[in-house]
Amino acid sequence: MTDFNIIRQYNFPTIIRFGAGAVAELAPHLVAQGLSKPLVVTDPNVVQLDFFKKILAELKASSISPEVFSSIHKNPVKSDVLKGGDVFVETSRDSIIGIGGGAAMDVARAIALRIHHRRDLFEYDDLIGGDQYVTGEVPYFITVPTTSGTGSEVGRSAIISDDETHQKKILFSPKLLAKIVFADPLLTMELPQFITAATGMDALTHNMEAYIAKGFHPLCEGIALEGMAQISQSIVQATNKPDLASRSKMMIGSLMGAVAFQKGLGVVHSLAHPLSSLLDTHHGLANAVNLPYGMRFNQPGLEKSFSKMAIAMEMKDSTGEKMADELFALNQQTGLPIKLRDIGVKKEHLETLASLAFADFCHPNNPKPVSLKDFSNLYESAL
Ligand SMILES: NC(=O)c1ccc[n+]([C@@H]2O[C@H](COP(=O)([O-])OP(=O)(O)OC[C@H]3O[C@@H](n4cnc5c(N)ncnc54)[C@H](O)[C@@H]3O)[C@@H](O)[C@H]2O)c1
Ligand SMILES: [Fe+2]
Repeated sequence: MTDFNIIRQYNFPTIIRFGAGAVAELAPHLVAQGLSKPLVVTDPNVVQLDFFKKILAELKASSISPEVFSSIHKNPVKSDVLKGGDVFVETSRDSIIGIGGGAAMDVARAIALRIHHRRDLFEYDDLIGGDQYVTGEVPYFITVPTTSGTGSEVGRSAIISDDETHQKKILFSPKLLAKIVFADPLLTMELPQFITAATGMDALTHNMEAYIAKGFHPLCEGIALEGMAQISQSIVQATNKPDLASRSKMMIGSLMGAVAFQKGLGVVHSLAHPLSSLLDTHHGLANAVNLPYGMRFNQPGLEKSFSKMAIAMEMKDSTGEKMADELFALNQQTGLPIKLRDIGVKKEHLETLASLAFADFCHPNNPKPVSLKDFSNLYESAL
């Protein structure tokens, strides 16, 4: 019987302090590092939650003077990062802590980049080779996840959109890894049902897409298989009747997904991204709806990988149809829709969505090629 009350340390790839109560180690850690003026980056919702207030109080009780920056958008934009960077400089900060979901942690990471890298922020876009300019110092950077989904806490990239065009840019560099992660499942105990389900399905998608993505990366594949096992065992419970065990499994499973997806993602994320840029759909929800269709598309020719995934997730059958059915069932059991029309997509959106999905950066890593026609067909069948 696993004891979920023990705080464990895992060192792959970042130092991860994982377990119930781990966030209490944040203040002593800062003190030990000689840091006392962190910029705490969060979002306008988390800033009001009790656990956040408690974290701030604990910092102050250790003679640390945090400055909170929380004016960020749901899908973060460049001006959020520039404003946060200005606050860092104006208030003479010595470190950055991202506390929240993927949005808050991404903004925190992008601010960390901004401090000593003063080109236009989007010149650091990885898709145009911008990582070559990430050569300077990065302030001491810590992450504290409060959702179990993106795994941004162990990531090296920040997804930031253009204020006007809403086009997403990826700021990437290994230098943007957090120095330490405090992953405390207790912070997710009150996470609302919808967010638990949607972020959890994002994490499941990361593990599944990474497992079958192109390339030789057995370390990531091993992590992805166990990551999908942790999530499939716990997502229904965590959503409908959360307890420490289910919240813990979701948090470690999502973190594993993000470690694994350095191998790559695939067709499902390419289907999901345009929904967020065009219709502002939550990233996890967009993945959740598209996952069954994307996996049904991928299965033929990948029978061996699918049978290993089915074993990991305790599914009875690994055919494309059956696996899609099991994934539909997971969405339904967690209260998520299974059709695009239920999240505001209309027939007239499909052509634009397909061309945006085809232009997306994820599907070149999909195990099989995806054509423009394939994207149209996938959206049609999901509508
Ligand atoms: N860096 C990466 O590798 C990566 C990967 C995928 C997605 N992303 C980005 O991550 C973002 C999505 O992140 P997300 O899915 O975590 O959503 P999110 O950060 O938008 O959070 C979802 C909602 O949950 C609320 N919330 C967070 N923690 C809570 C808690 N403990 N209790 C109650 N409410 C809480 C937030 O205030 C927000 O309203 C997007 O901006 C996406 O582009 C980043
Ligand atoms: Fe994702």
